[in-house]
Amino acid sequence: TDRPRVLSGIQPTSGSFHLGNYLGAVRQWVALQDSHDAYYMVVDLHAITVEQDPATLRANTRASVAQLLGMGLDPERCTLFVQSHVPEHAQLGWVMNCMAGFGEAARMTQFKDKSAKQGSDRTTVGLFTYPILQVADILLYQADQVPVGEDQRQHVELTRDLAERFNHRYGPQPTFTVPSPYILKETAKVFDLQDPTAKMSKSASSAKGLVNLLDEPRVSAKKFRSAVTDTGTVVSFDEKEKPGVSNLLGIYSAISGRSVAELVEHFEGKMYGALKTELADAFSEWVAPIQERTQAYLDDPAALDEVLARGAEKARSVASETLATVYDRIGF
Ligand code: ADP
Ligand code: NA
Repeated sequence: TDRPRVLSGIQPTSGSFHLGNYLGAVRQWVALQDSHDAYYMVVDLHAITVEQDPATLRANTRASVAQLLGMGLDPERCTLFVQSHVPEHAQLGWVMNCMAGFGEAARMTQFKDKSAKQGSDRTTVGLFTYPILQVADILLYQADQVPVGEDQRQHVELTRDLAERFNHRYGPQPTFTVPSPYILKETAKVFDLQDPTAKMSKSASSAKGLVNLLDEPRVSAKKFRSAVTDTGTVVSFDEKEKPGVSNLLGIYSAISGRSVAELVEHFEGKMYGALKTELADAFSEWVAPIQERTQAYLDDPAALDEVLARGAEKARSVASETLATVYDRIGF
């Protein structure tokens, strides 16, 4: 294939993805399946940088894959796999650890933020080297582009630096493709329904502010109906003055395919309550087939195993070739 290759991953850190994960990431993954040679993985190796209960991790990893399939990833059009099923990630991860400088790794702002929150006794060495495992994740597949949010740009820069360093040190033939970031649109940002100035987040949002894709429809309908707005009445898009209403309009637009302008016109002369109620209904209708497809995979473990086995096999055929070249050039 001459389509550019993309690689992206998502953590299996809860039983359900939320609306922000879909609109901010997975929706774009689905779109890239046809224009790109796409590799997508559930990054369970990254998940254990913080302590995980084994049974929960196993269940969440499978539920994550089922949801990705439910949201529209198609194993016929992309390579979908679980990171730990491809041992080359850990193997190349070690090699890249030995390419990175300690100071270079210590400058990663995500590490600094996360470790500051956890405190140094609870921060694992794995969290410190997590960006370097990401480097290996990307380079194993010779990815041309890496779809990431703005917050991950520094890790793609690190990937480029280490790829160039390796290529130079073990040249003259280049070993790795030097990838570029494919920054996902900021417009896809979803905000907390109870605090619309903060992003919707599984760790930071309250239960009422977080819309899980696997929530029962009546539960999410209630969350939309009790979303925090402002004291005004006119439905219009103004992220500064009306963050709550703007968030609801953005979500409604994304799931319905109708433009924000069209929605604003539709709600002319109606109040916020109408927006909330219609969005609650539209969301229930939109999420129903996603939930059905997800449930079908959860009810058929053999079918899910089959998808995972095929994905791992496809991924390994590429990853093992890269690793063999790397080992050879290093002198193993
Ligand atoms: P969380 O912030 O809930 O812990 P993750 O960090 O696991 O979610 O994010 C997984 C993916 O979902 C990332 O690509 C991230 O950019 C995207 N994402 C998470 N929350 C949002 C949001 N509120 N709006 C848009 N995208 C989001
Ligand atoms: Na996060």
